Amino acid sequence: MTGATKPSVLVTRRMPSAVLAQLEVVCDIDLHDHSDALSHDALCARVGGKQGLICMFNDRIEESAIAAGDQLKVVATVAVGFDNIDVAAAASRGIVVTNTPDILTGATAEFTWALILAVTRRIGEGERVVRNGAWKGWAFDFLLGAELRGKQLGVVGAGRIGRAVAAVAPAFGMRAVFAARTGAGAENAATDHAVVSLDELLLTSDVVSLHVPLTQDTRHLINRRTLARMKRSAFLINTSRGGVVDDGALAWALDARLIAGAGLDVYEGEPGVHPQLVGRENVCLTPHLGSATRETRTAMAELAVRNVVEVVSGRPAVTPVAL
Ligand code: DGY
Repeated sequence: MTGATKPSVLVTRRMPSAVLAQLEVVCDIDLHDHSDALSHDALCARVGGKQGLICMFNDRIEESAIAAGDQLKVVATVAVGFDNIDVAAAASRGIVVTNTPDILTGATAEFTWALILAVTRRIGEGERVVRNGAWKGWAFDFLLGAELRGKQLGVVGAGRIGRAVAAVAPAFGMRAVFAARTGAGAENAATDHAVVSLDELLLTSDVVSLHVPLTQDTRHLINRRTLARMKRSAFLINTSRGGVVDDGALAWALDARLIAGAGLDVYEGEPGVHPQLVGRENVCLTPHLGSATRETRTAMAELAVRNVVEVVSGRPAVTPVAL
């Protein structure tokens, strides 16, 4: 970049200083140096005059925030999901929206398996018993779980993360099947696994793991009707987005013993969690940690910075989202 004035970028959350240093080479940074979110009004006030905005998945970048960014050229979210951004409003103003695909696939797939194992082997329950001093000693039939070997993993969504989760299934002696829309990775999944309808997947799978983005089509994909299709012995895992599951319906299904348990990393109305889920022993609840490794979060931040630098320098973004 030549000339005295650098493009200015609003960064809505604390990020590693080494990553910010890369951004600072090219841009002036207005950093909200906190781990909590800016209010909508503060975000709108600070985005004015900025060429770039680096945000997180839980910053709501609605039409009004886009409009407040009178100089905006790029909105770079440090996440693969971008349901928090009004991409159409951005596109109508020629603003590029970017996300961070690929680099969080491994971390999120690992975490999904952690939840599958935690809920099927009752690790959370066991840990609570030990911590609470309630453990009376080893017993033959104490906290018996469900074994994975010989069972079916149903993966809903055949994108990168869904396929990475399915790839691990044989290591646990499981077979994987997919339910996916045509063109959403289904062709790639079909080379190694069966692709079935969502109904068939729900009827036949022992573990159902969700890996779809939150869109109008997937909101409450898992609801009373679809939960009632699942085996009573099956477990539901959600590391995708809150809102894909109707949490009230899930609490109802667990109360009615329609399914055996659930492992959840994401919720409707995060950080709030449905009160009937919080009290249940057969649900493993984690606070949106899917991509939360040092390596992956740093790589995500670096990719967001590269996207901003490219766009404000007049070059194409590395990972623009498709409308
Ligand atoms: C994502 O990348 O969409 C995650 O949910 C945020 O870590």
